[in-house]
Amino acid sequence: MKIGQQQFRTIWPAGSEEFQGVANRVNIIDQTQLPHEFRVVEIASVEAMANAIREMQVRGAPLIGAAAAYGMALAALKDARDESLRLAATLLLLSRPTAVNLRWAVERMLEKLLLLPEALRCAVAWSEAAKICDEDVVLNQAIGRHGFDILKVLAESRSGRLNILTHCNAGWLATVDWGTALAPVYTAVEAGLDVHVWVGETRPRNQGASLTAWELAQHGIAHTVITDNAGGHLMQHGQVDCVIVGADRVTRNGDVCNKIGTYLKALAAFDNGVPFYAAVPLPTIDWRITDGLRDIPIEERHADEVAMVYGLDERGEAKSVRVIPQGSQAANPAFDVTPAKLVTGIITEHGCCEPAQLQQWMPSTEMTD
Ligand code: MRU
Repeated sequence: MKIGQQQFRTIWPAGSEEFQGVANRVNIIDQTQLPHEFRVVEIASVEAMANAIREMQVRGAPLIGAAAAYGMALAALKDARDESLRLAATLLLLSRPTAVNLRWAVERMLEKLLLLPEALRCAVAWSEAAKICDEDVVLNQAIGRHGFDILKVLAESRSGRLNILTHCNAGWLATVDWGTALAPVYTAVEAGLDVHVWVGETRPRNQGASLTAWELAQHGIAHTVITDNAGGHLMQHGQVDCVIVGADRVTRNGDVCNKIGTYLKALAAFDNGVPFYAAVPLPTIDWRITDGLRDIPIEERHADEVAMVYGLDERGEAKSVRVIPQGSQAANPAFDVTPAKLVTGIITEHGCCEPAQLQQWMPSTEMTD
């Protein structure tokens, strides 16, 4: 997608000059610096990649998967023996627990590499990571087309602008390109539909206010940032035509785990008859589990993310300020689970279906019972 007039992906291989034409480093956009600074950071080891994932320089489930794949490629470059690759996989798997794309990508890389002679592993690792990235873009474009079909029908049933509410950032910054929840929005705008996006700020890390608002602004898409608590009020007053969110993990029966606060949006949508969609590529579905509340590990992040707020002061200098009293405790569960019964539809690369119908797209390799 675009930054200014230039096309970018969120992650790309770099530094081929020292290594016989094979990339030996990875570039990422440092998302901790947005929206105030656009900074590209070079990652040169699996340890640095695990750290970038943990610290959320790269974040969003599909991008975490892509970053982990490149983490495995960096590991293979250093030492392609079985033990080293297994250690790298463990390190990456520990970096963030909730987004299942991480496990999906690491397992795919490991399974592929361990079957090969050591001498071939490095080159294959880099091409497989690139393949995962390219596939992500194709999946998201398909999600965009299927989501657009839904938006078009909604738009035809009403007059004026279509108002879509989203939470967190499930745009192109959360993927390799295009996004999941925002792919239908980008597709709709390209097709000339008049849309406006309500962007929930998404405390504590403000991915909505800082990332979603930034990428929509870069594409000239009408949007308004709202507090997380405003969504229900807007729905009660008929100002939201549909909700579209992304997901970090969806169970086989359609429970949707996404950024903390998604569940409250779904409850408000349900109460007000507003359709609630999750836009999800198949690598985000964990076919091994059926009960999201019981089986999905919810990341608990540092309390300082709640206690402190980061931004620019009136002189334009970056600053963190404390918003809770010294001595008060803060808790920071990073995700919640929206039960399938509150979800109108799941938009995948194959089409949109009710949560109960999701299993029609389960890969045969996952069919265990
Ligand atoms: O903690 P984050 O910023 O990685 O959380 C991201 C989200 O919750 C996204 O909505 C989700 O990963 C879907 S991204 C297409």
